[in-house]
Amino acid sequence: MSNGIAFKTTLPDPTFDAAWEAIKLPTAIKQRLIAQAILSLTMRRKVAFEIAPLHGIIALAGPPGTGKTTIARGLASKVAGALKGETVTFLQIDPHGLASAALGKSQQQVTTLFNRTIPEAGLKGPAIVLLDEVETLAADRRRMSLEANPVDVHRATDAVLSGIDQLTREHPHILLVATTNYPEAVDAAFLSRADLLETFALPGAEARAEIIADTLNGLAKTWPAVGQLKRDVGRFVTASDGLDGRRLRKAIVGAAALSIESARDPGMLTSNQILEALRGVAKDKGGRREVA
Ligand SMILES: Nc1ncnc2c1ncn2[C@@H]1O[C@H](COP(=O)(O)OP(=O)(O)O)[C@@H](O)[C@H]1O
Ligand SMILES: [Mg+2]
Repeated sequence: MSNGIAFKTTLPDPTFDAAWEAIKLPTAIKQRLIAQAILSLTMRRKVAFEIAPLHGIIALAGPPGTGKTTIARGLASKVAGALKGETVTFLQIDPHGLASAALGKSQQQVTTLFNRTIPEAGLKGPAIVLLDEVETLAADRRRMSLEANPVDVHRATDAVLSGIDQLTREHPHILLVATTNYPEAVDAAFLSRADLLETFALPGAEARAEIIADTLNGLAKTWPAVGQLKRDVGRFVTASDGLDGRRLRKAIVGAAALSIESARDPGMLTSNQILEALRGVAKDKGGRREVA
């Protein structure tokens, strides 16, 4: 869509809440995110920026497949649940939809996005806006050679920054949640405006055990025999070192495709198939780049 809106809805949303639960992260991170989001949406409406310089931006950075986009949606819904009695709008921006720099449009589109599209989402009450994969929107100006990148892309980053500064001043009931797989490609001026920069890591052993159990439990709702495989969670955890949450879940589910029988009836899935699938992805994970 040319206006950059990928998705719009009213919160809370039960599917977003479920997504929040499905992402296994240290409790401290989840609490920090909720607390910062609530603070941002309440304090900025009551205290002048000069006193409390909050921009209303939370940034989530980390490798692909670590749950950033999913947790951002869940966060929005949880915060909406906490702001009782207010209608909260959720808007997801897809910067790829805007990228028509070659046609000389992006700077104007960015300005429209921040001056009109996003403020409109806040007409009924607080709005939480997900700027997904923000490196495409606020690309690091220092890294751009003007030769390789149209001047217009450079201008688009400038437009993002001035758009954000204006949003911050005029719309304290709007919270931006930005995600990036490549924080080094995001303009430093953007990241420095974030009130909280949360860095997501690949899941450690404990998180992987939770993700594996959650995936097996999910499958066992339809194919109860899969539940028995949980006895081998320890082996799966060892075999999945270095995998992100997305690949981990995909490998477990994809293991059922290692034979026609288990593909037809995933209740036939075996621990050995899961181990084989996990070792397969763990082996070639350096070679391929994840397409998010
Ligand atoms: N920490 C995690 N715990 C559980 N599942 C995860 C985790 N990280 C990723 N996943 C799985 O991977 C999917 C994709 O994650 P996503 O939010 O798109 O990651 P990102 O935005 O960081 O690339 C999620 O819907 C979930 O199924
Ligand atoms: Mg993402």
